[in-house]
Amino acid sequence: MIKVNSHYLKLKSSYLFADIARRVRDFQEKNPNVSIIRLGIGDVTLPLPPACIKALHQAVDEMASASTFRGYGPEQGYDFLREKIAQHDYQARGVDISPEEIFISDGAKCDTGNFQELFAQDIKIAVPDPVYPVYVDTNVMAGRTGEFKDERYEGLVYLASTKENNYLPELPSQKVDLIYLCFPNNPTGATIGKEELTRWVNYALENKALILFDAAYEAFIQDENLPHSIFEIPQAKKVAVEFRSFSKTAGFTGTRCAFTVVPKECVIYTEQGNPIELHKLWLRRQTTKFNGVAYPIQRAAEAVYSPEGQQEIKNNINYYLKNAQLIRTTISDLGLHCVGGENSPYIWIECKRDSWEFFDLLLQKAGVVCTPGVGFGKCGQGYVRLSAFNSYENVQEAMQRIKNIF
Ligand code: MLT
Repeated sequence: MIKVNSHYLKLKSSYLFADIARRVRDFQEKNPNVSIIRLGIGDVTLPLPPACIKALHQAVDEMASASTFRGYGPEQGYDFLREKIAQHDYQARGVDISPEEIFISDGAKCDTGNFQELFAQDIKIAVPDPVYPVYVDTNVMAGRTGEFKDERYEGLVYLASTKENNYLPELPSQKVDLIYLCFPNNPTGATIGKEELTRWVNYALENKALILFDAAYEAFIQDENLPHSIFEIPQAKKVAVEFRSFSKTAGFTGTRCAFTVVPKECVIYTEQGNPIELHKLWLRRQTTKFNGVAYPIQRAAEAVYSPEGQQEIKNNINYYLKNAQLIRTTISDLGLHCVGGENSPYIWIECKRDSWEFFDLLLQKAGVVCTPGVGFGKCGQGYVRLSAFNSYENVQEAMQRIKNIF
């Protein structure tokens, strides 16, 4: 008899964004004449930057000729891309990361989800609440939690990120081994300063813990005082792994390209307390389970670092931030508290009622899709998230419709 991995049975029946998509589909079927505006899942709407398209075309042409054709590439990614990333995203900001420490992948979702495979079953895990569901669900699948009760999984340490603490979770009061952090934050849009981030790095150093730092929204940072990478914090390379993505930065949500930085000096420990290089383990994992990102896609990602590419992605980010500004102003004018949207594409709104009830209200009365805050955790109850990824015209229309229902 083929038996199920019983940990899957602990999961909520569907993934948050799949659940929302289903509800929207049902609504649209019943109301075919409503033009729905999607400000739910953070999916970009602007096309790929012209510099990326040009590189993609050229790379596709290379694949058409035997002399330039490429088969399997290196599992960790091509050097041409890893070198550009190390230089532009790290060394240019005074952070000493080498190309060998960079692993190219097909998404930060996959990497943040897969990384937990490297750890023992009995580690103590801390996650912020609200939180990107992938960090939690993948640990549930791996059997590191108990049952789901009262919007939380038993066995996890939840760190409340609320209005009261400015959406910056406190350090755990009990000892934990693995910490997930995401800044600029998904879903709240909150940011973290160098001083606060240093406290997390020091905690990890003192407790021989590891921080998985999701910086997928780093490109939206406008405030020059904010760190773009956890590796800007002294000694962070010993205790942190960083995830980045081209999805939101350069419109690669459908194209798929991201990267993970695993510093060579970062270690985890055997049962006996002996250090093991994390880099070696991730390399072993990737070379076994992953065959790399398609060559043309990596060439397209490389083009992000060309002078034209840099200008084009800046324009796109500014475009989305203008949408975010409009959302913030409209929501604040309606007398609702909100955060985010200044260094992030997400606006986190206190809706003063049940999150799903507000989701239904916006969908049914305004034809606008948001993400219910409670889908990100118990502390998200009473909140919804709006995403700035849509056309300015659609955001204007959505804001007008929301104003009309208030
Ligand atoms: C989100 O809306 O939270 C993101 O688009 C999800 C993702 O990047 O996987």
